[in-house]
Amino acid sequence: MSGRHLAKEQPDSFTFSKDGEKKAKYWIAKYPKGKERSAVIPLLWIAQKDNGGWLSEPAMRAVGDRLGMAHIRVLEVATFYTMFKLEPVGEHLIQVCGTTPCMLRGSGDIIKVCKKRIGEKNTISADGKFTWEEVECLGACVNAPMVQISNTAGDAYYEDLNEASMEKLLDDLAAGRKVKHGPQNGRHTSEPLGGAQTLTAKALYDGSRAKPLKKIPNAPKAAAKPKAKKKPAAKPVAKKGAGK
Ligand code: FES
Repeated sequence: MSGRHLAKEQPDSFTFSKDGEKKAKYWIAKYPKGKERSAVIPLLWIAQKDNGGWLSEPAMRAVGDRLGMAHIRVLEVATFYTMFKLEPVGEHLIQVCGTTPCMLRGSGDIIKVCKKRIGEKNTISADGKFTWEEVECLGACVNAPMVQISNTAGDAYYEDLNEASMEKLLDDLAAGRKVKHGPQNGRHTSEPLGGAQTLTAKALYDGSRAKPLKKIPNAPKAAAKPKAKKKPAAKPVAKKGAGK
């Protein structure tokens, strides 16, 4: 985690990008009039993306001015959440998960690569391309070990890593090559390596086993129809002249 204090060197100003402006308006419009401050976290995130991956003091002031919020209140939020970087970072911010499942599956090797290629954590590599830090579980333990990489293109997970695939990932990113998100060992999502082993019969998915339902299971019983009332038998009509 980077220090939770403002960077010593600060730029003179900050302005939202055209896209950032659009996104800021979208988020502010989600809250009722007078409650615009509720959009402080999304706006700080947008400002961070527009500011090369970190929050400068002018960027925080711009967010406060946009929301009618005291600058100190914005600073309190920005310094509390570790997702906000308070010092400049490289073009790609690499967050290496070091929690137990990733540690048992080799996050130590990933950290070794980061140290070798980038330098100490929370520093910027000599070419300005990378910064790395260690974080707690990112919720992809089934694909351990993994990293999250944030840059102007977004934030994405890279999973099932080892030393070689991490080196390759850094090479590709440094060269501006397209990189594949998700597992780096060829498996699909969290399926077993080599593909799914169960529920593989095609007939399970092509609809051929579907049969029309005769009745819907557990459907409420239809109300019984009221019985039709019996019509009283017609009285026999006396014939004229009968009984004379
Ligand atoms: S322990 Fe690394 S993603 Fe959960």
